[in-house]
Amino acid sequence: LKGQVLSFSRSPFDEGTPQDATQVSEAVAIQDGLVVGTGSLSDMQAQLPAAQLVDHGDKLIMAGFVDAHVHYPQTAIIASWGKRLIDWLNAYTFPEEMRFGERAYADEVANRYLDLTAANGTTTVCSFCTIHPESVDAIFSAAQTRGQRIVAGKTCMDRNAPDGLRDTPQTAYDDSDALIARWHGVDRLDYAITPRFSPTSTPEQLEAMGALWAKHPDCLMQTHLSEQVDEIAWVKSLFPQARDYLDTYEEFGLLGARGLYGHAIHLEERERHRLREFGAGLVHCPTSNTFIGSGLFDMNGLMAEGQRIGLATDTGGGSSFSMLRTMAAAYEIGQLRGTPLHATQLLWLATQGSAAALRLEDKVGNLAAGMEADLVVLDLASTPAIAQRTAQAQDLWEAVFATIMMGDDRAVAEVRIAGQVA
Ligand code: GUN
Ligand code: FE
Repeated sequence: LKGQVLSFSRSPFDEGTPQDATQVSEAVAIQDGLVVGTGSLSDMQAQLPAAQLVDHGDKLIMAGFVDAHVHYPQTAIIASWGKRLIDWLNAYTFPEEMRFGERAYADEVANRYLDLTAANGTTTVCSFCTIHPESVDAIFSAAQTRGQRIVAGKTCMDRNAPDGLRDTPQTAYDDSDALIARWHGVDRLDYAITPRFSPTSTPEQLEAMGALWAKHPDCLMQTHLSEQVDEIAWVKSLFPQARDYLDTYEEFGLLGARGLYGHAIHLEERERHRLREFGAGLVHCPTSNTFIGSGLFDMNGLMAEGQRIGLATDTGGGSSFSMLRTMAAAYEIGQLRGTPLHATQLLWLATQGSAAALRLEDKVGNLAAGMEADLVVLDLASTPAIAQRTAQAQDLWEAVFATIMMGDDRAVAEVRIAGQVA
């Protein structure tokens, strides 16, 4: 493929200018679902003499977006009005999640969700499901059919959820264990052990999840952490002996390098220290944090102390399926905290950053030899408003920034999953 091909040579949050973390070349060569290399068109044609050339003009070709924290079963309730976290869960989320015991409905939403995200340039997601094993089978089957790399897991809850939406410590363990056997490491699929968050699990269930993770240490573990102030107070009352919110996970073996902690907004010193010490993944969900009214993630402070951070829509708490819109929201939250993120930093978070949080940085999230050929082609002049801004941009980054701030699925000219047009 020919165009403006973007690769990262390091993190744009490290020392030096953010732009210097990137390389822009003329072409990317792909074969059998993998990236062969990036470079000049003549070099790429020399490497793959028989390859078909797809000329994307001056469009930007980059790794497909990696959305590190989503709830595919909340697809149909996105943009539900007027509630903060706990009321939003009870009023909108739980009634919808109840429907996923029916496999046909789960299949329908899983496919609709993967259509919507692919249309927005997202090639990998890490999703919560519902308590129903059928909901896990549905999303993994849909992704497998598409040849897509995803991570997902059965959401476990055994208290503070309505009838019909609770499992038990034992069934959560057994069902998750069976799903791991069925799906983990099959094709491009990975399993994440998924206790929803401390308020909806008893200590016994958290302990069972910790035991399951110890049995399957190569699985990820995903949950929520310190999203909203009321939620944190609730956790304190449910776990009076815990030192802080993170401690309710740590105590049960649910803190680790393959752990993913969504939101992580209102963190205490000890929590930051422990997350850093374990190299855990924090996931920034900016459209969700503004939509549900949760708070402003400390990107700069957390990056400066060396945390591993990914970016995510958190749909349907998040208000958009688009990682472009999500990058724009991350920029705006940075501004509200006094630290504007550079376009390269936003693009890195949406690809390499999220891939690294999911421990998939050697497979997806960048265009380099040996990486899987999941990519997105962005039209940097997709609407009249963006085109007139791009026309007077001084450099590529100014043009890209206009698409980040104002772009939507019209900017996505092509998506490839494992080399194939999606
Ligand atoms: N905390 C526990 N469950 C959820 C959820 O579904 N969405 C969000 N945003 N936060 C949560
Ligand atoms: Fe979430």
